[in-house]
Amino acid sequence: MKVMVTGGSGFIGSHLVEKLIDKGIKVRIYDLQSPDFLEELPEDKKKMVDYYQGSLLEQDRLRIASSGSDYIFHLAAVANVNDVEREPRYAFDINMTGTFNVLEAARNNPGIKRVIFASTVWSYQCTPQIGDEELQEDAPLALPSHFYTATKIAGEAMCKSYSDLYDVNYTILRFGVPYGVRARGAIVTAIFVHRALTGQAITIAGDGSQYRKFVNVEDLAEGCVLSLSEKARNKIYNLEGEEMVSIKDIADAVDELIGNVEIIYTEGRKGDFKGKDISNKAAKADLGWEPKISFKEGLGRYIDWYKKVLSQAQADEKAVALV
Ligand SMILES: NC(=O)c1ccc[n+]([C@@H]2O[C@H](COP(=O)([O-])OP(=O)(O)OC[C@H]3O[C@@H](n4cnc5c(N)ncnc54)[C@H](O)[C@@H]3O)[C@@H](O)[C@H]2O)c1
Repeated sequence: MKVMVTGGSGFIGSHLVEKLIDKGIKVRIYDLQSPDFLEELPEDKKKMVDYYQGSLLEQDRLRIASSGSDYIFHLAAVANVNDVEREPRYAFDINMTGTFNVLEAARNNPGIKRVIFASTVWSYQCTPQIGDEELQEDAPLALPSHFYTATKIAGEAMCKSYSDLYDVNYTILRFGVPYGVRARGAIVTAIFVHRALTGQAITIAGDGSQYRKFVNVEDLAEGCVLSLSEKARNKIYNLEGEEMVSIKDIADAVDELIGNVEIIYTEGRKGDFKGKDISNKAAKADLGWEPKISFKEGLGRYIDWYKKVLSQAQADEKAVALV
């Protein structure tokens, strides 16, 4: 089996690529940025991956790059909500035209069995939760208030209509909020850990009571791999963390694991998703997926990894100073 991963150089994509090759699946990474994480892999693993540099906006390149693949995992996107807010036009191009181009590539390469689309639990941003009932994948989605969510719901809609009109199969994965090794600096856990390890205060927008069920990126990547199952054809799955962790809990855990951290509270963000109870039942039943890594364990692993990154950066600075 061969799969193409758009965004395979990114945070979640890199873990997905690692899991795929661990299972003996050949991978092509399609990304604008080169996959630096491959340097960390042993030679025999590296041989199972190739890198095709290209943009989602280059329709012909995408079609050529994906020819010969059995599946496309489509993860490349403007994934940072703040970047989307700052540059909606760019986010429109990458997240909407980009997803359209991936679906077109699949339509023009009939060998591709399915497009597996990285969506988000933010899709439920404005969908009301009735009482204590968890939101399931079939909940009718209310129109969103954040443009990031608008681009993701549009992507989901395009996947469904391409399946109905052109028999391009899909799986939509609504990712929970991930954290873990190689997290982008803009992710809350990464920001808090960086600030704490560099002696800066942690800032919380609002009172910190907004909670997420954070999911470890390795658990998320495992869920992606399991979605290759035939059962997932033309289905939607939530891949959500199961532990309730508030922003304040994260700050407190960082303080506990690192020590002496100052915490400052500021005004809340516009259109912030305050967190909903989202069900993993379907992913458990069909794919046998559930998160396995506890938040504390995952945060500890992240801190260990980030300490190495910081000390490497300091060593590099010293080396430059010596030249
Ligand atoms: N990180 C999160 O909090 C989160 C949560 C839910 C869903 N998601 C979704 O998961 C996916 C992966 O997110 P991530 O956190 O790994 O993001 P990331 O920013 O780490 O990775 C995105 C990758 O896409 C690539 N990319 C961007 N524009 C491109 C283009 N025009 N052509 C080709 N490649 C391009 C980037 O170079 C990068 O390697 C995204 O679709 C995102 O919307 C992310």
